[in-house]
Amino acid sequence: MFLRPSNVTLTRAATRCFSRDVSALSAATHYNSTLTLQSNRSSSTTTRMQTRQGTNYITNQLHRPYSNMSTNNSELQLSTVFDVKGKVALVTGGGSGIGLMITQTLAVNGAKVYIVGRTEEKLEKVVEVHGKDIAGEIIPIVGDVSKKDGVEKLVKEIESREKCLCILVNNAGIAPGKVETSVDSAEEFKENVFEPATEKEWLDVYQTNVVGPFLMSTAFLPLLQKATEVHKGYSGTIVNISSISGHIKISQGHFAYNTSKGATIHLNKLLASEIAKNKIKVRVNSIAPGVFPSEMTTKESRDDNQKSEMPKEHKEHLPSQRPGKDQDMAAAILFVVACQYLNGQTVTVDGGYAIQVGN
Ligand SMILES: NC(=O)c1ccc[n+]([C@@H]2O[C@H](COP(=O)([O-])OP(=O)(O)OC[C@H]3O[C@@H](n4cnc5c(N)ncnc54)[C@H](OP(=O)(O)O)[C@@H]3O)[C@@H](O)[C@H]2O)c1
Repeated sequence: MFLRPSNVTLTRAATRCFSRDVSALSAATHYNSTLTLQSNRSSSTTTRMQTRQGTNYITNQLHRPYSNMSTNNSELQLSTVFDVKGKVALVTGGGSGIGLMITQTLAVNGAKVYIVGRTEEKLEKVVEVHGKDIAGEIIPIVGDVSKKDGVEKLVKEIESREKCLCILVNNAGIAPGKVETSVDSAEEFKENVFEPATEKEWLDVYQTNVVGPFLMSTAFLPLLQKATEVHKGYSGTIVNISSISGHIKISQGHFAYNTSKGATIHLNKLLASEIAKNKIKVRVNSIAPGVFPSEMTTKESRDDNQKSEMPKEHKEHLPSQRPGKDQDMAAAILFVVACQYLNGQTVTVDGGYAIQVGN
């Protein structure tokens, strides 16, 4: 906020200083005077500056011509800071695991959430069980986000229903089976790692985990940009669900998956940077989860609610001494979606997994 001396109570010495150039204000620090400056923009905002020998607090304040100070405590309440009411979101892979956690979080807090997956029954079950009596809405769309024509169909579908897309969560992902990497010899390493590997497996994983988010982000960019225009003070946002697998130093027995997630993290950076460079106001961030219950990690989900379960003991060796919970992912997605000053980042939410095994 630019402070003008419209309603200023000053000691005589300080008043003289104010009329000179800003740097001369440091002279006021030689006086033990109290300045009360009142902004002409908001009469409720009063900035009180105590000057003391040896401090240059006033000078620093006045050298800053813009500071978006909150004028009202209510602007800092949880319900305002993390408000997603009325926002339109699309979550790929919203029919299970982490995508479902994200879908529930956004929808119960008032967003209209489209969920995309290849299996209609999963999506329908989510709507039936988790879409009732909530502030927002969950809407299923069957689709494949790893193919260009699948992505184009989705854009047409959303365009026909909505004037903008506020939140795109690229969450859909796949992982191949694991191999044993603790071996006694080079021969055994080759036998375990090379023999079962197929080029198709590597390419399929890359297609879904990297090509998919690339296609979705670039195809939906105009609709995301419209969200920035429609919602004042809010920018359309892309959230790429990467993984700690993309930055830790171990393969976890799946080289193709971890390599693909490293690429997802890099793609996130490239998209954020290229979009910002062109002054398109759409933020791009990534969440890198550790271990959460999902169809990918537990190989199943419950028929009655599409949720997966993982016993606490399963991850007792982690610093968190447990796997991730729905609430952990809820806190992460609300932060990334709501924080308008976050851009180009990967936020790791892993119960300390990465600090334990190392990046
Ligand atoms: N769970 C974890 O511990 C963990 C940790 C780090 C990162 N992640 C990441 O989190 C994301 C979600 O995985 P998850 O663990 O929650 O596993 P999940 O339960 O298997 O969820 C993946 C979802 O993606 C959908 N999907 C897969 N390919 C798709 C495609 N081509 N088009 C549309 N939808 C597709 C699947 O539904 P359909 O098969 O019906 O299409 C499924 O619902 C993934 O990117 C994963 O890499 C998970």
